[in-house]
Amino acid sequence: MLNILGIGAGYVGGPTMAVIADKCPEHKVTVVDINAEKIAAWNSDHLPIFEPGLDALIERVRGRNLFFSTEIDEEIRKADLIFVSVNTPTKTYGQGAGLAADLMYWEKTARQIRANATGPKIVIEKSTVPVRTAVAMERILNEKDSPIHFDVLSCPEFLAEGTAIRDLEVPDRVLIGGRHDTDSGREAMKKLSDIFRHWVPEERIIHSNIWSAELSKLASNAFLAQRVSSINAISAICEKTEADINEVSRAIGLDQRIGPHFLKSSVGFGGSCFKKDLLNLVYLCQFYGLEEAAEYWMWVVKFNDHQMNRFVDRILKKMFNTINGKRIVLFGFAFKANTGDTRESPAIYVTKRLLEERAEVVVTDPRALDNARRDLEGMPVTFAEDPYEAVRGAHAIAVMTEWDLYRDLDYQRIYDVMEKPAFVFDGRNILDHKGLYEMGYHVFPIGKKALSHFDR
Ligand code: NAD
Ligand code: UDX
Repeated sequence: MLNILGIGAGYVGGPTMAVIADKCPEHKVTVVDINAEKIAAWNSDHLPIFEPGLDALIERVRGRNLFFSTEIDEEIRKADLIFVSVNTPTKTYGQGAGLAADLMYWEKTARQIRANATGPKIVIEKSTVPVRTAVAMERILNEKDSPIHFDVLSCPEFLAEGTAIRDLEVPDRVLIGGRHDTDSGREAMKKLSDIFRHWVPEERIIHSNIWSAELSKLASNAFLAQRVSSINAISAICEKTEADINEVSRAIGLDQRIGPHFLKSSVGFGGSCFKKDLLNLVYLCQFYGLEEAAEYWMWVVKFNDHQMNRFVDRILKKMFNTINGKRIVLFGFAFKANTGDTRESPAIYVTKRLLEERAEVVVTDPRALDNARRDLEGMPVTFAEDPYEAVRGAHAIAVMTEWDLYRDLDYQRIYDVMEKPAFVFDGRNILDHKGLYEMGYHVFPIGKKALSHFDR
């Protein structure tokens, strides 16, 4: 039986440790956090995050072999393996501000581990960190003359929100980076692999050196984000030429070398990871004097900003160049469907720009309203639980999140209570554009021909 500790009870730490507990019933898994409110929520019926399947999982394992606690020092003393999933946000001050990852929380954790450990431990980087962070961690932990030895491994997390439980239960791969050149390094990697072997097929557990593992995580997110920016760049050409982005995505995705995933054009990518990790990569490139590589990745971020701007510019232009006083309803505020997370959501950016134009913004979302209220605190925005209430007297609907709910609404009923002309800007291409057009709406999808009655 092992004592496994997770430090950081957020979107990664909570679900990841819960799945480990579920799959390894003989081990005891504890999750700690400095945020007592969050821990209390994990111990209640109202979990701090929404993820499909998470409630049932927590109910199954909490109190059995999964525990949530604020006793960080004590749990460190007891732990054999420590997974660190603390946040690594973009630095907002000093050198590298706006680009580099802020490793303040990571380093604090490493020092706390060292201060409380009374025996050897394996420390696992789950957080996304710049390549070569493990060196700093090893140096802090294995202080000169210290009798206790720590092994540091990199095991980056690839889960996506909204599908976190499935991604953890059936991962494409588990990547373990460690020191192959020492006995204790090899043993640590084996110990960690043995945990995943409980449910992950052998061929999906892959090993590498620590630096490759750290860099693979940044590279993986950079590639995914780059695909979204690439398809969004093509969407801009589609809007000028009557090519249809869905047809183009399908055609290129059928090429086995390209593949069909992550080719959905949208208002832009959001989420806590893509932008932060791209900027982190840009900073690393600059740090190593690789200006062209830095610029290449920076363009993925720049194009995403451009795509969000394009979306708002189009609203403004199509609504006769003024939206002052017009009621615009955002369908969805989460950065993607099936999560309540709004971090870096395009909806935040779009809201701010609409407010600059003095529009009257109404926000509705089935899961993200609490976070939206926090993001937009102090701004003159109305929140509505019920989309049918939200659209009363509205001039336009802007779809920001691809919730299934919005596909299935009664759009005739909505049309009847909207101001005319009634506009729909579908930032996710999820609605039946032709059907809406036939009802009388003026419809503006992404990367597709606009269906406007004014163009007839
Ligand atoms: P989060 O903000 O939801 O959770 C981090 C938690 O760590 C917070 O609850 C915070 O209170 C806690 N924490 C900070 N310092 C601490 C300390 N010293 N001791 C104990 N707890 C501490 O962040 P997240 O979304 O879970 O991301 C965590 C890391 O995982 C980041 O590096 C992120 O890049 C990476 N990651 C995130 C995702 C994702 O989808 N969110 C996916 C893969 C990787
Ligand atoms: C991402 C990575 O996918 C995951 O592997 C990593 O561990 C964390 O970062 P996440 O941010 O949770 O996960 O969601 P993801 O599904 O990657 O979507 C990111 C953003 O891109 C969302 O705003 C999404 O709507 C957008 N997106 C995604 C598109 O606009 N089009 C697509 O085809 C795919």
